[in-house]
Amino acid sequence: LRLGVMISGSGTNLQALIDACSAADYPATIEVVISNRPGVRGLERAEQAGIKAVTIDHKEFEDKETFEDALHECLADHKVDLVCLAGFMRLLTSTFVNRWRDRMINIHPSLLPSYKGLHTHARAIEDGVRFAGCTIHYVRPEMDNGPIIMQAAIPVAVDETEESLIAKTLSYEHKMYPAAVRMIAEGKVRVAGNKVAFKDVDV
Ligand code: GRF
Repeated sequence: LRLGVMISGSGTNLQALIDACSAADYPATIEVVISNRPGVRGLERAEQAGIKAVTIDHKEFEDKETFEDALHECLADHKVDLVCLAGFMRLLTSTFVNRWRDRMINIHPSLLPSYKGLHTHARAIEDGVRFAGCTIHYVRPEMDNGPIIMQAAIPVAVDETEESLIAKTLSYEHKMYPAAVRMIAEGKVRVAGNKVAFKDVDV
């Protein structure tokens, strides 16, 4: 499976995918990494791994449409089968999302459908929930919505801080993202209506 990973920042999830893809028996390869922000750590990670790293800076485009056309062209040029959003912080239009319908996934640091949007960890601590989490889902035009592929429920400690919960959540994310991509690559996951249907998966 040919992956295109889209990032905006540090790229620790990208790193987890890079590490997974370096195993000979992993059924996916990263063909291109695209960042909408220049100079971020994630681009360095890609370069260090010998992966094509491209900056497509939204600020250099007249409007969203031309920015997204550039994203699309880059992904298509690299014959990407699956787009992995990994900390990509621009909202995508429904035009772009529909072009990649059922071929684009996202990782979000909450137990969706709770806590869509930003500052998920702080909001969960503020609400006193006992479980936080993270979710990998197919992307639909509405933000942080779409058929759920994989989730982890993460206990919130009594003395949890935003910082500690971010770190704890990331350690789950880094295990989950490569596992979800593997499931897709092995044909064990398909979209069925507003949910995912699984084949030969024990969960
Ligand atoms: C992660 O928490 C991810 O769930 C969210 O953005 C963050 C990206 O972190 N969508 P990184 O760039 O992968 O380190």
